[in-house]
Order: sequence, then structure tokens, then C-alpha cells
Amino acid sequence: MEFEILKLETKEQIALVTISRPKALNALNTRFFNEMDAMIEKIGGMPGIRVMVITGEGKAFVAGADIAEMVNKNSEEGTAFSRLGQNTFRSLEKMEIPVIAAINGFALGGGLELAMACDFRIAGAKAKFGQPEVNLGLIPGYAGTQRLPRLVGLADALYLLMTADMIGAEDALRIGLVQKVTEQENLLDETMKIAGNIASKGPKAVKLIKAVTRQGLTMDFDKGSQLESEKFGSLFGKGNEGETGMKAFLNKEQPKW
Ligand code: CAA
Repeated sequence: MEFEILKLETKEQIALVTISRPKALNALNTRFFNEMDAMIEKIGGMPGIRVMVITGEGKAFVAGADIAEMVNKNSEEGTAFSRLGQNTFRSLEKMEIPVIAAINGFALGGGLELAMACDFRIAGAKAKFGQPEVNLGLIPGYAGTQRLPRLVGLADALYLLMTADMIGAEDALRIGLVQKVTEQENLLDETMKIAGNIASKGPKAVKLIKAVTRQGLTMDFDKGSQLESEKFGSLFGKGNEGETGMKAFLNKEQPKW
């Protein structure tokens, strides 16, 4: 597929995807979702890539779903547009490799929902967050009502969803919506450093951390612990990643994964 909205750059083992529709503050339209589906498949099929980073061009990360595309939809079309976004964000969340959001500006509505489908979020000091759907007489459509309370707890989620308040990066950090705030101009460098650090770890182990931790949240504790033991064991044995890492430690060497 030809990419018009998404730009892909690879830097060593990191794929950097930039959402580039700055005139509309990177608002999410059908074209975006089709491109993102194709990008997920493309990056998922690049064996050397260990981490994906998503950012936005201009003053927004993403200012929400495209209101101009939504305005004339009927009820069935509204539901279909919601499912389209939900499916794409679910595929993103299910990528085997870690996905980091580098939030450069407005992350509103569908933009915050996109950021929440990533594994964690790094924000520039000028980033702004909110779920302003109620201002439009709407509710979130890309699973914001589901991910936000799971990330920040019920009361902070309902506060943001009901008031449509826009909060800054420090408040987002305080409620756990983002994991780190950087100086605005250092956002990409800092995020790429974090991505590079993760890319230097055991790649199978990193993928299993994501899978076991995410799956565990949907399981009871004992089943999740059993899954952990199985995956822990899967890293042992001759030539396996755990053997490489542990031998390197004992020999005081850097592991070569
Ligand atoms: N959809 C479509 N176009 C959008 C957009 C959106 N979500 N957000 C901004 N734009 C467009 C504006 O219409 C404007 O276009 P024109 O230049 O053609 O007029 C351009 O981007 C620049 O925007 P502004 O002039 O408004 O920029 P600003 O700096 O004055 O304000 C802003 C920035 C506060 C983010 C403001 O643009 C805004 O409030 N945007 C809408 C935010 C919003 O409501 N998001 C939720 C959408 S609904 C949703 O996401 C539902 C869902 O969960 C599925």
C-alpha cells in the first residue's frame, strides 16, 4: 500500500512511525486506519525490528477522530467507524514488539485512545490530553471508555470523560496516563533512547513480557502465574535466549542476542 499519512523511518532496531496530516492536526480518518493496518502488518513482518515508536507531526499527536468525516454518518455508519478504529488499535496493542507513544502535542479523543493502545507513553512538556467527545455530544469510540479506567482508575477516568477537561503533561504523569515527561525539544531523542534500551534486551523475553503481562490482566491470578512459569521455562535450554543471557552474565560479557 502507498502511505500518504504515515511515514516510516527505521533506525537500527527501531521503527519510527510519524502521523503526518498536520493541517487537520493529524485527525483520524478511514485512510489513516487503512494505512495503520498495513503499517502494523509491514512492521510486524520486519524481523530486525524490536521496538515501534509512534509520534505526530506538527503541534498535535492526534486531535481526535476526523469530525468532518463523522458529521454526516448515520447510526450504523457511526458504529462501523467505531469498530474500524477499535480493530486497528487492538491489532496495534497485540503487536508482539513493544509500541511506545511519543506524544508531542494534542492527544485528544481518538488521539488519546491511540496513545492508550500503545504499551506506554512518553510526553513532551507541551503535550495536552483529554477526551472531549462530550463537547460534541459523543462518547469515545475507540475503546477510550475501556482503556482509560484500566490505566488511571475509575474516578480519574470518569472525571476526564465527563468534564472533557484538557490536562497537561505533569497532570498526565501524576495520574499515570504517561510514564515520563521530557523537555519538549528532547521528546524524540529521549523516546528513541528508551526504545534503544529496550531493543538491547533479550528480544524474546521482551515479547514475552508484553504477552504474559497483557494476557495476565484478563486472567485470574493463578492462571496468569501458570502462564508466566511456562513462558519463563520456554527461555531455558541449549542455545536459547536465557542460556545466552545467563552465560554472558557469568562470563562478565555483553550478551549477543
Ligand atoms: N477532526 C477534524 N478536523 C480537526 C480536528 C478533528 N478532530 N481537530 C482539528 N481539526 C482541524 C480544524 O478543523 C482546523 O481545520 P481548518 O484549518 O480547515 O479550519 C485545523 O485542524 C486546525 O485546528 P484549529 O484551528 O481548531 O486549531 P487550534 O489550535 O485553534 O485548536 C484544538 C486545537 C483545541 C485541538 C481544536 O482543534 C479542537 O478542539 N479539535 C477537536 C478536538 C476533539 O474534539 N477531538 C475529539 C474528536 S471525536 C473523537 O475522537 C471520537 C472518538 O473517540 C472516536
